[in-house]
Amino acid sequence: MNQRTAPVVESTVSFLTHGYAWLPDLRRHLGENTVQTRLAGRTATALHGPDAVRFFYDERHVVRRSALPAPVVDTLFGRGAVQALDGPEHRARKALFLTLLTGEAPVASLVERVGTEWDAASRAWAQQPAVELFRATSVVLTRAVCGWAGVPLPAEETVQTADDMVAMVDGFATAGPRHWHARRARIRQEKRFEELIRAEREAAERAAGRNGAGPQGSLVRAVALHRGAYGELLDEHTAAVEALNIVRPATAVAWYVVFAAHALHRWPQHRAPLRARDAAYAEAFAHEVRRFYPFVPFIVGLAARELHWEGVTVPEHSLVLLDVYGQNHDPALWPHPYAFDPARFLGRQPGRDELIPQGGGDPHGHRCPGEDVTVALLRSVSTRLAGMDYDVPRQDLAIPLRHVPTRPRSGLVVSVPPPHAAPPRARNRRPDW
Ligand code: HEM
Repeated sequence: MNQRTAPVVESTVSFLTHGYAWLPDLRRHLGENTVQTRLAGRTATALHGPDAVRFFYDERHVVRRSALPAPVVDTLFGRGAVQALDGPEHRARKALFLTLLTGEAPVASLVERVGTEWDAASRAWAQQPAVELFRATSVVLTRAVCGWAGVPLPAEETVQTADDMVAMVDGFATAGPRHWHARRARIRQEKRFEELIRAEREAAERAAGRNGAGPQGSLVRAVALHRGAYGELLDEHTAAVEALNIVRPATAVAWYVVFAAHALHRWPQHRAPLRARDAAYAEAFAHEVRRFYPFVPFIVGLAARELHWEGVTVPEHSLVLLDVYGQNHDPALWPHPYAFDPARFLGRQPGRDELIPQGGGDPHGHRCPGEDVTVALLRSVSTRLAGMDYDVPRQDLAIPLRHVPTRPRSGLVVSVPPPHAAPPRARNRRPDW
């Protein structure tokens, strides 16, 4: 086949300055679907579209070991995490996450806990002049997720823990203070979770000694006792990293909650069907929030061997990127992609490899195992938000695309009136600016 020699330019600075727009702009500028560039001095080929998703998630083409730069591993994922495994080791580790996170029971029990925490917190918000919804939601989610996962959380550690979970996500793609904050957060939480893993193992041993029965219990205990592809227990550090791989991303749903609140503020017509408890609409709304708003810009792997895709030669061991943000805004897949329109998902389940905010392919591959949890939490919290009575004072709600991960600059400040403070109709109005 006649292979195209793709243009090669160094793009690291461009990514750091343009963020989410970098890859879609590069594709538009070069007029190609598949583009080749350089990131951090390495050849990087960016793939786009549902066929490319299937190509990318085939382990014969793309692997994960050593794909991620150290600054990302040392903040977002942690060393030894499932994200960087391949083959049988990945399958065995991934089975743990799928068992713990998918299916009706675990999802429903987390949704219930979050609902209880949300209702209690929103009553307290009415006692304060204003609340930053992003931060407040991260605290609600941390409390609920830690309870659900079996992570003890003393009241005086709640805010610090929530801030650490947020920091690990917030600081992975930048240089400077946010990045160093993320590293410190990871060191602190890994140490704490290692102690927890030790305690869980000791408790499991004591329980087995007492009555000979296998230990029952929490998600954290399941991680502590998980055995890998060769029957081995994870070392304490890796087990801590994987327990954090549940608590951290579940807290990160705060990004989507604040995006849902942003959507309800900008386009208040979506409140009524949510208030009416229209379950199909709530699901469609959750999918549209995940499609429309920017979170993951792209996913990174390494070419397992020399590859050929759409006329481009991908050198062995070079970087392969999957264009997540670009695909979720591709007009060929989503008519009027920059219109926020939950109706596009009514009466239609999103295609497995079309809607990819949490990765594509099969969940037994690297696709996010927390997708059901995320959609269920968004359904539930968006419905609660739509039913709440609050004002959105004047503030900077811009969502800068060069900032990865991004969110409304203000964190979305709301002011919740005490019950019966004013006629509800006067509230939730869109300001005139
Ligand atoms: C804010 C919502 C979330 C977003 C945007 C998100 C996004 C993603 C993405 C893009 C991936 C990588 C897919 C790939 O490498 O191909 C991923 C993987 C993963 N996610 Fe999520 N996720 C979210 C929520 C969750 C939740 C709630 C959990 C757990 C409770 C979770 C746990 C994981 C784990 C363990 C992996 C690694 C899977 C693997 O490498 O096999 N995520 N997620």
